[in-house]
Amino acid sequence: MTARITDGKAAKKVQSTLAIPHTHVTRTCTQCGMTYNPLLAADVGVHAKYHDNFTNGISWPPMLQSPQHAAETVFVTLKRKTTKRGSLKSIVTREGKSATIQIVDKLSSKQVDKVETMMAMVNSELNAVDDSKQWRSAQFESSKAFVLVIDNRAVGLCTTDTIQHGEWLIHKTQSLVPNRKISSCRVGISRIWIAPKWRQNGLAASLVLEADYLPNPSMACGTRVGRY
Ligand SMILES: CC(C)(COP(=O)(O)OP(=O)(O)OC[C@H]1O[C@@H](n2cnc3c(N)ncnc32)[C@H](O)[C@@H]1OP(=O)(O)O)[C@@H](O)C(=O)NCCC(=O)NCCS
Ligand SMILES: [Zn+2]
Repeated sequence: MTARITDGKAAKKVQSTLAIPHTHVTRTCTQCGMTYNPLLAADVGVHAKYHDNFTNGISWPPMLQSPQHAAETVFVTLKRKTTKRGSLKSIVTREGKSATIQIVDKLSSKQVDKVETMMAMVNSELNAVDDSKQWRSAQFESSKAFVLVIDNRAVGLCTTDTIQHGEWLIHKTQSLVPNRKISSCRVGISRIWIAPKWRQNGLAASLVLEADYLPNPSMACGTRVGRY
């Protein structure tokens, strides 16, 4: 870089050196996707917390688990794969766990804030734009957020949107099939996400089973809608 110093008479050129400190390095975690500076303690701390929340689910203390909003308690069998050092074989162990699927209370700011924290992680993993937020709006009574809680952590999230109709989509080409509108569709899944540590255990399938549940405030129980 060159700078000019003028003393009023002649302009003198001075050589400056741009020194980028060696601490200015970044690392992107391959699991949670966060980019941080491994040489800065504050950055390392922020990453460790985010990584833990992303991988294992975020804390969902008992005070947030209101029984009137618990849709279902399911018993899940979790598979754990471990490989002994020096061995090519992996050992699969099974552990039974009780999981609660809870319908997020739109009036509870604590629950809504927690879901927003999860949603930020979901959108970041999916590289998706913000969602419709119908799940937190009183205007959309049928749109809900469901969280799956295991050991006081929300490990899964499913949000639904109110829709007027459904359409057939060819997964491979991501194109719509013409003249295949399903006019009876009322609820569609907007996001479904399971924390990486808990994947491949049938948890997303359990959440989808609950997402067709439409609680009716005037009835003791809700109604189940059909699925496509
Ligand atoms: C997709 C996702 C929700 C699946 O969660 P999960 O708890 O591991 O799924 P489950 O164990 O309940 O599996 C349900 C079914 O989906 C299948 N499945 C699960 N993950 C899959 C994957 N990555 N690719 C293809 N099929 C998959 C399972 O084989 C199973 O099918 P089966 O019932 O015929 O055996 C989870 O991997 C995730 O959160 N991914 C990132 C977010 C995402 O992609 N969401 C979807 C778009 S919003
Ligand atoms: Zn990470």
